[in-house]
Amino acid sequence: MSVAPKYDRIAPIYELIDLPLELLIFKKWRREALSRLNGKILEVGVGTGRNMNYYPPCCSITGIDNSKGMLGKARENAKNMKNVTFILMDAESLGFSDHSFDYVVTTFVLCTISDPVKALTEMRRVLKPSGEMIALEHMCSAHSIIARFEELIDPILFSLLGDHTTRHTVRNIKEAGFIIKEANELFFKEIFWKIRAKP
Ligand SMILES: C[S@@+](CC[C@H](N)C(=O)[O-])C[C@H]1O[C@@H](n2cnc3c(N)ncnc32)[C@H](O)[C@@H]1O
Repeated sequence: MSVAPKYDRIAPIYELIDLPLELLIFKKWRREALSRLNGKILEVGVGTGRNMNYYPPCCSITGIDNSKGMLGKARENAKNMKNVTFILMDAESLGFSDHSFDYVVTTFVLCTISDPVKALTEMRRVLKPSGEMIALEHMCSAHSIIARFEELIDPILFSLLGDHTTRHTVRNIKEAGFIIKEANELFFKEIFWKIRAKP
């Protein structure tokens, strides 16, 4: 089931909800992951456009999301940027030709897409053979006590934010046919990761 109606409702306050995490940790990770990219970039689940400040100006960015509300915020936030296009689109059915992009980026998105393997397979299709997928994501911890806690909070977070805490995202990326080049634990008992993968 699509989480778009949830994100449409949350959109006006989304940036407030995750402001503490954004200021304390996400900002730094976004800069580190995105500030050296170039070429044609597809950002999937672009949300309110939080990453737009971190791409170099030489990049040509296409941001897609299936929530009109979140895209509305993204357009507002990036109104002075010339190199960005936002499109209402489902990640599970990308309307781009094969091999269109140099990079596909997801940040905190693969936990919300209904069928992440289907979406990842689409992302691999639209990447150039020389391209790369870059993801900042949270996922199910390998530590049993933390994983148990994630199982407990999963239904609550899903009903509030459309967010799953129990996804095995590295496994899903491999299942979609990517080759993992980097899987780097960023924070706290293997929950937050940076992943780089080749199509
Ligand atoms: C947790 S937010 C993250 C937003 C942004 N990437 C960020 O880093 O702040 C997840 C976003 O993924 C979008 N999303 C979820 N499922 C999607 C799908 N099937 N197709 C496109 N976007 C989707 C949601 O609408 C939401 O904007």
